[in-house]
Amino acid sequence: MLILTPVSVFAIIFSMSSRFGAKVISWGRAVPERVVTNDDLAQFLDTDDEWISKRTGISERRIADPEKGEGAIDLGAAAAQSALDQVEKYSGGSLAAEDIDLIICATATGDYLFPSTACMIQDKLGASNAVAFDMSAACTGFIFALNTAYNYIHSGQFKNIMVIGVDLMSKYIDWADRSTAVIFGDGAGAAIVSACDEAEDAFHPFYIKSRGDSDCSLYVKSVANQYPVAEADIKAKPEMVYMDGKAVYEFAVKAVPEALEQAIEASGYKPEEIDYFVPHQANIRIIQGAARRFKIPMEKFICNIDRYGNTSAASIPIAFDEAYELGQIKREPGQKLKLGLVGFGAGLTWGATVIEF
Ligand code: COA
Repeated sequence: MLILTPVSVFAIIFSMSSRFGAKVISWGRAVPERVVTNDDLAQFLDTDDEWISKRTGISERRIADPEKGEGAIDLGAAAAQSALDQVEKYSGGSLAAEDIDLIICATATGDYLFPSTACMIQDKLGASNAVAFDMSAACTGFIFALNTAYNYIHSGQFKNIMVIGVDLMSKYIDWADRSTAVIFGDGAGAAIVSACDEAEDAFHPFYIKSRGDSDCSLYVKSVANQYPVAEADIKAKPEMVYMDGKAVYEFAVKAVPEALEQAIEASGYKPEEIDYFVPHQANIRIIQGAARRFKIPMEKFICNIDRYGNTSAASIPIAFDEAYELGQIKREPGQKLKLGLVGFGAGLTWGATVIEF
């Protein structure tokens, strides 16, 4: 028999009334200084600018120099700081590092196996009141982390969450492998998700998926996590990106439209009502394919892959923040943009959502 004590009645009422809305209040980014062009790569790889531009849409990428303060922790903290600094520009008002109560860092390339990159960023940022942890979902990391932040806020557990995507894929690139060396770049992006009235909730349902990829079409094997480490493994330097480009391409051209279609349908909008799409930047042809599929002009798809390559978990917030700064994304005062965000990557993982911003 269910016995209701005053405490349990209070708990039920509280849980019924403690649903919060969530909204993104700011974005930020930080990229390494060093620009590496296709011509730079052609000096030591059997490749050329024409092949790379035509097949991927990439002209140059940023490559970090951790010795110059551009490690994953440094860039992640700088992107988070930039999101704090830009609260006023994006939403009015301000937020201090101490107001952040959770940091979720999506990364597959942290500087340490442990502690988490998020904890180290917490220290650098001075976010002394935050809980911090990492999330590993490769290039879909930002979407999964945003979904997690949304749910924490919706439940009432946290009020201001810093979501960071940072990856330094250059650490794991085999610079003799032209099929991967031309694709990836380094960078960090961030978004702050804050609680609001339920009526102002700016998120529509997330569509997220995983399919364990035992064929290993995209991976970095972790030597440090194997014990005992085989001498041959150390010599062979297996901690490098391996990618079956064709298999990943075939997966992506299905996953991106599928995720967007599901997320848009769940939002109740029609594809043409979405103001801008901010997709993971992996290959311009994958983005063009999605635009064709929905009969949406490419101008609505934010693309900066030409200048950054694939920055993995960082690509979506970098693309949004830069496009807003450059005026490619325009928002009139009081206007709420409808944004379609979509990511995909190793795992395999993929996901999308529509948010109002
Ligand atoms: N420069 C010049 N030639 C290259 C090259 C390079 N950088 N990389 C590969 N090639 C060669 C190949 O060796 C092959 O030569 P061959 O025909 O003599 O064997 C030829 O170009 C075609 O290779 P292929 O792999 O069929 O090219 P592609 O059109 O499939 O493009 C990718 C390759 C990697 C650009 C494409 O498959 C892709 O974008 N895949 C998805 C990758 C991705 O999104 N990864 C991240 C997921 S988060």
